[in-house]
Amino acid sequence: MDELPILSIENLRRDFKMGDQVVHALRGVSFDIYPGEFVTIMGTSGSGKSTMLNILGCMDKPTAGHYILDGEHTEKLSRDALARIRGQKIGFVSAAAGRLRPWKW
Ligand SMILES: Nc1ncnc2c1ncn2[C@@H]1O[C@H](COP(=O)(O)OP(=O)(O)O)[C@@H](O)[C@H]1O
Ligand SMILES: [Mg+2]
Repeated sequence: MDELPILSIENLRRDFKMGDQVVHALRGVSFDIYPGEFVTIMGTSGSGKSTMLNILGCMDKPTAGHYILDGEHTEKLSRDALARIRGQKIGFVSAAAGRLRPWKW
């Protein structure tokens, strides 16, 4: 494909520390999305869909790996820069808006 991807996910990992346990919610996910593509994420409960969407929506950051949106490495951006991206480039319709909360980084 000649076109550049709108976004690229490269070997993305997200761990959650739960006391002395670590939950590996995303273990090295990679994919590209190209302009005009319509994409769904499917999987069983607990498979990491919400964790992935929180990162795609710039509401959370990966533990490791890369999320390149529009050519920009989002994992290097400040909270303010991510807030700007959320305001300008990302639309989100949440089935559970009450669950959204500011994330601690
Ligand atoms: N904030 C969190 N703290 C600890 N564990 C979490 C947190 N968010 C998600 N998890 C865990 O990560 C895994 C993936 O969860 P989630 O992304 O919500 O899956 P899905 O949306 O596909 O049901 C689950 O094991 C879940 O318990
Ligand atoms: Mg979910």
